Formats: sequence, C-alpha cells, structure tokens
Amino acid sequence: MTDELTRLSASDDPATLRAWNEAIRLGFHMSRGSDEGFQRWLADAKADDATLWAVPDPDNPAGMPVGTLEGFDKAINAGRAEIAARLITDVTVRPTHRRRGLLRRMMTADLAETHSRGIPVAALTVTEATIYGRFGFGVSTRGHRIEVDTAERFGLLSAPGSGRCQLVAPADAIDAVNEVFGRFHAATRGSVTWPAFYQDMMSGAWDDDAGSADKKTWYVLHRDTHDEVDGFAAYRIGERGDGPRPVEVLTMVATTPAGHLGLWEYLASIDLTGVVKYHNAPLDDPLPWAMRDSRGYRVIGEGDRLWTRVLDPIACLQARPWRGDGTIVVAVDDPMGFAAGQYRIEVSGEAAEVTAVDTAAEVTIPVDVLAGLWLGGADVPRMVAAGRLTGAAEATDRLAAMMDLAIPPYGITFF
Ligand SMILES: CC(C)(COP(=O)(O)OP(=O)(O)OC[C@H]1O[C@@H](n2cnc3c(N)ncnc32)[C@H](O)[C@@H]1OP(=O)(O)O)[C@@H](O)C(=O)NCCC(=O)NCCS
Repeated sequence: MTDELTRLSASDDPATLRAWNEAIRLGFHMSRGSDEGFQRWLADAKADDATLWAVPDPDNPAGMPVGTLEGFDKAINAGRAEIAARLITDVTVRPTHRRRGLLRRMMTADLAETHSRGIPVAALTVTEATIYGRFGFGVSTRGHRIEVDTAERFGLLSAPGSGRCQLVAPADAIDAVNEVFGRFHAATRGSVTWPAFYQDMMSGAWDDDAGSADKKTWYVLHRDTHDEVDGFAAYRIGERGDGPRPVEVLTMVATTPAGHLGLWEYLASIDLTGVVKYHNAPLDDPLPWAMRDSRGYRVIGEGDRLWTRVLDPIACLQARPWRGDGTIVVAVDDPMGFAAGQYRIEVSGEAAEVTAVDTAAEVTIPVDVLAGLWLGGADVPRMVAAGRLTGAAEATDRLAAMMDLAIPPYGITFF
C-alpha cells in the first residue's frame, strides 16, 4: 500500500491544519488542544513559514494525519559565522502505521528540499538516540542535568561580584530576555535562534502544557553596575516531596561571569527551598569551582541536546573556527548523498578554505560523525578510538591538531 505524502503550509485550510495539530498532540501524549492553543500554534507556524508534511489517514483523509513532520528555517552560530539551518520538529507516526517507512519518506522529502534550496545544515532534538543517525544526524551539543544543594551547604568562594538581582513576572522580563539571548547567541558556538513559539512561552502569554497563560514561572534578572541586564533565569518552585521544595530552572543564561554567579546566589537564597535543579547546564559550567562545597554540585545526567545533519560540508566547515594551520583531504561518507565527496581543507589563522576535489582522501568521516566534530562537541581522537573515523595515524593526528576545539559548543534552544 502506498501512503500519500502531502505538503502543507500555515495558510492552508484551517480544518486540515487543526487536524494536523491534533495529530502531533496525540503523538506527544498531550491533551486535545483548545481553540486558543491552535490559533497561537498557527500564528507561530505562519511566522516561521513552516512546512508541514503529512501522511493522511487512508480511513479518514479529512481527519488527523497518521504521519507528521514540520520544518522551518532558523540559524546556527557555527563559531566564525552564523549559517542558515533547517529545524525539524513535530515528528510523529501513529502507532498503527509504524515501521512502514513513513518517517523515512517525510524526512527524505524535507532534507532533499532543504538541500536543493542551499541550506547547509538541518537540526533537531530527539526523544530517542537510535532514530536519526540513519538519516545522517549526529550529536552536536550536550548538556548536564544538575542538582545544586542550596541549604546550609551553599556558599561561594569568590565574591559574587557587582550588580544586583531583580525578580519580575515573565511579561515584564521578555524584552530583556530577548536582548540577553541575542547577545548570548551571537557569542556562543552551537546556539540556535529561537522559533516563534518562544515569544509566547518566554513571556508567559501561553503555557502549552497547561493550556492557559503561564501562572507558575518567575524570572530573575541580573543587572550590572550600569543597570544593564546581563543574565536571566526562568524558574518555578516545585512540589514539596520528602525534603525541601526544589527550584526548577527552566532556562538560564548570563553574558558575564558576575551575572552567572549573581543568578546562582539568588537561586540559592530562595526561602523554603533546598535544591536547585537545571536540565541544561553547560559542560564547562564554572559554578562548581566557585562553590565552597563543590560536592553540593551534582551532575545527575549528561545527554545529547542538539543533533545536526550536514548537507553542505563546504559552507559548514568554513563557518566554524579552526585551531591549527594545515592542509588535509577528507572524504565525507553520506549514504543519502547530500554531503558525500572529497574535500580539501586548508586552515590558516583559524579560518578554513574548503574545496571539493577528486584526489584521494586521507581521512574518511561518516556524515553523522561530522555533525559531532563540526561544532566542536566531539574530538578526533575519541572518534578514532570509537572506530568511527578512519585514516593513517599521521593524518588523523593532523586533523585533530587542525580541528579540535577547547571550549564545547552550547545552546539553550529546544524545539
Ligand atoms: C519515531 C517514529 C517517528 C518512527 O516512525 P516510522 O514511520 O515507524 O519510521 P520508518 O518506518 O520510516 O523507519 C525508518 C527507519 O527507522 C527505524 N526506526 C524507526 N523508529 C525507531 C525507533 N524508535 N528506534 C529505532 N529505530 C527506529 C526503522 O527501523 C527504519 O529503519 P531502516 O530504514 O533501517 O529499516 C515513530 O515511531 C513515532 O512517532 N514515535 C513517537 C514520537 C517520537 O518519538 N517522535 C520523535 C520525536 S524526536
């Protein structure tokens, strides 16, 4: 049986789009949606100029589709330059229609279209790590899930620095939040620009899980000595279990070290709470080094965050910073063909010139491995040891000296 694939946009018939929206809510185990939730989702899909792929239900073509995939264009900071990126989300296939190639058809259609438009990379975040490698995606950024004890044990060794904290409701924070995120994004390799839904979410106008305005989130802003906001944290106070209530940080970023420590001082000082939980601390978080009792900082999980799929190795590799001068020819192995080929990389002064060539490659890199190396979240020796990258030792050592970066990539965008 052939499943039909249709390509919708946010200006299509509202009833069809409502059914599409209900299908993703079903796929992600959410309640049925409300009219207001649908209108907000539709406005976001319009603002993002989203493509909505659908496989209609053969038993009910006007109802919820059995397969969905959404794609829209944003940008990734690759370290030297920001490049266009196709963000892929809302991937669902109904349990009754699994494992007959629906995901493969939708994903192939979107990647092929994205590649032909000249967008150099696609990106997604995943629920399972085993699904997307076959489509050329690999892990590009990772994050730490942390718990920080903030009862008697908490204290900073370094002076918290200058500045002050201000507690505000989300609607009063949104302008400063956008400004701080803009500065963070411009300075951070691995950061992705925010999809449209972030405005409703960050301003508290809409909480998709609650199906109403956000009534739980608070923001703390950190202001420097000139009263400029240089960091923020969005948080909720969790339920009391056996111990004290937790502070659950939803997102947090600071553009100065004083802002970072100042926000933590505030979070640790909230009365009637004893632990701060955050799902996305950076791997190189300076906080444990600033704490009097560093064991009060517990990494309780490390996991993948952003996955990418290189479609144009030349554009991607030229947009990243490089470490050491040198020249190497690499082959990119891409079973889907988009990125396949041999490329000469000539690095001088942290910038690379990358050219497609016919000469024999010294190192072979599978395209999903390139996703890890590209943004600097993985390093060459580890990929060699994992058996994922092949070449003579001299060549892989040379690539490592050229490519491996000291600071891991990081991002706070989830979609
Ligand atoms: C994940 C999901 C979209 C897969 O859809 P599907 O139509 O069954 O996938 P396909 O039939 O196109 O399978 C494509 C390939 O992926 C593999 N695959 C699919 N789902 C997989 C999974 N969960 N784990 C491992 N492999 C998986 C298939 O075996 C197939 O492999 P092959 O091409 O090498 O034979 C579907 O199971 C789903 O909707 N899950 C719930 C929602 C979800 O997890 N969405 C992902 C959000 S990131």
